[in-house]
Amino acid sequence: YVNNMIRERCEELQLSDEQLREIMKRLLDNIERGLARDTHAASIVKCFVTYVQDLPNGTERGKFMALDLGGTNFRVLLIELGENMHFDMKSKIFAIPQHIMVGPGKQLFDHIADCLGAFMKEHHIEHECLPLGFTFSFPCVQKGLTKGLLVRWTKGFDCEGVIGQDVVELLEQAISHRNEVTIDVTAILNDTTGTLMSCAWKKHDCRIGLIVGTGSNACYVEKVENAQLFDGDRSKPYVLINTEWGAFGDDGALDFVRTEFDRDIDNNSINPGKQLHEKMISGMYMGELVRLVLVKMTNDKLLFNGQGSDLLFKRGNFFTKYVSEIESDKKGTYASCRQVLEELGLGHATDQDCANVRYVCQVVSTRAAHLASAAVATLINKIQEESVTVGIDGSVYRYHPHFHNLMMDKIATLVTPGLKFDIMLSEDGSGRGAALVAAVAARGHAKTA
Ligand code: BG6
Ligand code: GLC
Repeated sequence: YVNNMIRERCEELQLSDEQLREIMKRLLDNIERGLARDTHAASIVKCFVTYVQDLPNGTERGKFMALDLGGTNFRVLLIELGENMHFDMKSKIFAIPQHIMVGPGKQLFDHIADCLGAFMKEHHIEHECLPLGFTFSFPCVQKGLTKGLLVRWTKGFDCEGVIGQDVVELLEQAISHRNEVTIDVTAILNDTTGTLMSCAWKKHDCRIGLIVGTGSNACYVEKVENAQLFDGDRSKPYVLINTEWGAFGDDGALDFVRTEFDRDIDNNSINPGKQLHEKMISGMYMGELVRLVLVKMTNDKLLFNGQGSDLLFKRGNFFTKYVSEIESDKKGTYASCRQVLEELGLGHATDQDCANVRYVCQVVSTRAAHLASAAVATLINKIQEESVTVGIDGSVYRYHPHFHNLMMDKIATLVTPGLKFDIMLSEDGSGRGAALVAAVAARGHAKTA
């Protein structure tokens, strides 16, 4: 049913296993360079050490606050970890208006402090001083569990005056300036770390935390002996590494598979030349990639009889959720596809057009799933444990109807024979993970005290 010309044009968006294996080789090389003292500074994939060295063991207890910034939603959370794996979580989503996402850093942290204060009042805990885990999902150099210097903004954020600063300090200043609540920030962590911890609480062989959402990144459990730059407790065997693999390719390592559509996305982004791997995978870009392919095919008269629409031709108008919706239609039916096309002013689409549009969506989302799989397989092969669970979160993985299966199949093809793996959704987001990091940190303090 899909037009042959369309199939042909989409070939460059399909990655062979051979190409994926080449990508794995390059990524592994990047990861090793990130971990090693001599090559870290020049490495594109940074492999930041996290200072999280212990996975949860179920004995964590207490009442914690958490902030979750950097995904689709900004959340404030109150979490209680009790006996027998009892877990209670209250949370509220607050909006971060666009002008704050790209405004002065001070304004961002003031806004966060405002939301935190409002939440604590609402829950009548404004007079308690609770430990807080701050999930801050951007690349940071950590100088300890409670100190993280922002290296670069990614995704849609670009707030002035934050790069190079300790974001924990900025948060604390904003909270104390507001003078309404007091908080003890006991950990800063990446969302991948939160996801890993949250899943490890339930599955003891969880060694990887993965995000395929607005952005894409992973962290994993590494041997301290391999983390040459780690200056924490080297007597413990492990430390979590935040790979920041979204930056993979920024030196051209992925150019052999990037297409004109990827270059277009990059040129028109707020961070050109940066996060090139992420731009091929994550939700912030997937819909726009599809749109660019559709526009090209319309102009070549392969779609909609050559008749596009103003809405289709405008940047950002094809939402990533459309990809999931269109691919959710049952075989041979196009109800969601038609609805999306109508919203875009393409009510004149034929069944043939619908089949073609769905095909383009499949090709783009499958490529994302395969790239994520190659990267996960790289980590599984590096960890080399008999069985590894991958904790995962993010809107693309959650809402795309086939992402899980695509990943299961491709990882199985790419891992070293004999290694077992599973992929597990982090149901409760990274909030519980943030509480667990804060709790494990408290456990550490208690021991040394
Ligand atoms: C959430 C986590 O569930 O998923 C966040 O709590 C994370 O920490 C997010 O950043 C990633 O997904 P998305 O699609 O919101 O970017
Ligand atoms: C971006 C961020 C990274 C985060 C990922 C997923 O790649 O740089 O820190 O983990 O998005 O949210």
